[in-house]
Amino acid sequence: MTALTLSTAGAATLRADALVVGVAKGAKGPIAAPGAEAVDKAFGGKLASVLETLGASGSEGEVTKLPAPSGLKAPLVVAVGLGQAPDKDEAYAAESLRRAAGAAARALTGVKKAAFALPIEAAEDAEAVAEGALLGAYAFTAYQGGENAKGAKNGKQPLAEVALLGAKPRDKAYKAAAERAIALVEEINRARDLVNTPPNDLFPESFAAVAAAAGKEHGLKVQVLDEKALDKGGYGGILGVGQGSEHGPRLVRIAYTHPKAAKTLAFVGKGITYDSGGISLKPAGHNETMKCDMSGAAAVFAAVVAVARLGLAVNVTGWLALAENMPSGTATRPGDVLRMYSGKTVEVLNTDAEGRLVLADAITKASEESPDAIVDVATLTGAMVMALGSRTFGIMANDDAFRASVHEIAEEVGEASWPMPLPSDLRKGMDSPTADIANMGERMGGGLVAGLFLKEFVGEGITWAHLDIAGPAFHEGAPYGYTPKGGTGSGVRTLVKLAERTAAGDLG
Ligand code: BES
Ligand code: MN
Ligand code: ZN
Repeated sequence: MTALTLSTAGAATLRADALVVGVAKGAKGPIAAPGAEAVDKAFGGKLASVLETLGASGSEGEVTKLPAPSGLKAPLVVAVGLGQAPDKDEAYAAESLRRAAGAAARALTGVKKAAFALPIEAAEDAEAVAEGALLGAYAFTAYQGGENAKGAKNGKQPLAEVALLGAKPRDKAYKAAAERAIALVEEINRARDLVNTPPNDLFPESFAAVAAAAGKEHGLKVQVLDEKALDKGGYGGILGVGQGSEHGPRLVRIAYTHPKAAKTLAFVGKGITYDSGGISLKPAGHNETMKCDMSGAAAVFAAVVAVARLGLAVNVTGWLALAENMPSGTATRPGDVLRMYSGKTVEVLNTDAEGRLVLADAITKASEESPDAIVDVATLTGAMVMALGSRTFGIMANDDAFRASVHEIAEEVGEASWPMPLPSDLRKGMDSPTADIANMGERMGGGLVAGLFLKEFVGEGITWAHLDIAGPAFHEGAPYGYTPKGGTGSGVRTLVKLAERTAAGDLG
């Protein structure tokens, strides 16, 4: 990953290949943001008017490159838009800093070292800039370009080094902020890599191997149930979804424990390494991005490792429900009845509603350990994308206060989300003449129907929330802010912050 350093040097004296400053949208044109003073001075106090001449306004995501005047050690100045300038005495919002830093980092592909001189007044600001820059510099190049004769990668490489100016390297809070940003972003980028890895290379067995290796590296306990163990244990949901594939399903338990932990969280991730729809095959146009259907498991995995690296005083158990949903002579048929791990029977009316089947088994299993709360993360329904668009995830829960907390936490870390209801009248649509429940119900409100299905598998009295990340997990449009094309790592920041709040005793 891109390296991060906190620098004491001033913007004028640090040797770097580029110098990033902020420009905000003011009432009468662009304004050079705090942090840009030395650069403004080198421009004879005219940085804002030079930018205006070049057509810059300071709007979010705008990037203007200028050759540096004499007096600066860096040859290139990159002015990045911060959006509307805050009111006097107000600080820039963390998410504005994150997005601006991300946009700048993306514009610096191929550059070795960039100094970021964005407005930093407190450690939280430094953390936001660091997160944005490191997230924005991400690129998935594993399958591109090849190597030259010297063994170096062909093609432009992501920004190699970020030096944060305005941060205090010897201040404990700033140091901790930088360390947190590095650990968090490395894990988010790990989740992105997993999502972007093509499904011919990432399947349940190989995903489980990655989890086992990371577990070893970070002192986590990892247990993997393979087809045989799943069969023995009666995991009819996971087996039913995975039985059509050459690549057998897995259930991975990855556990972090802390000796001083008072609470235990269980995170459950949907890990469909490829969702063809199964016998209820998806049409062309709907299956090209379905390698992303393991994004929930990737988020859970990344969050558990991040929590371990941060050494939080909370126990966190991750459950990765891994299967490949394929059509074949051995696949589950629409009309088949599965006996789930809980003992409930499910009539599979549509094999494309597979996520809820693997999650149900994992949620039942997670419930056996009586965690203080369960949060599942899943690219579960197209209906949620219809409802909230492709940048916002839906939050459902069996506890209004917990749903509100998760929503507030997501907001705090800069992940767009919205609370959704679980209307009980939608339950009857899943009544089955043959089994205890069907895996499909009314089409309208399909995201909520899926949530209601999952709710039935949550252990008695356990607080539970469900994040449907089908929209934001995989970004198909042009990159923006710190969000790249492809896997985004959606959900990781929310899960990690939830663990931090729980460790601090701030939640129930
Ligand atoms: N993995 C899909 C949901 C999805 C859609 C994820 C778009 C990401 C982007 C899920 O397994 C699915 O196919 N859901 C069906 C459910 C339906 C058959 C009840 C859907 O949403 O159409
Ligand atoms: Mn599906
Ligand atoms: Zn799916």
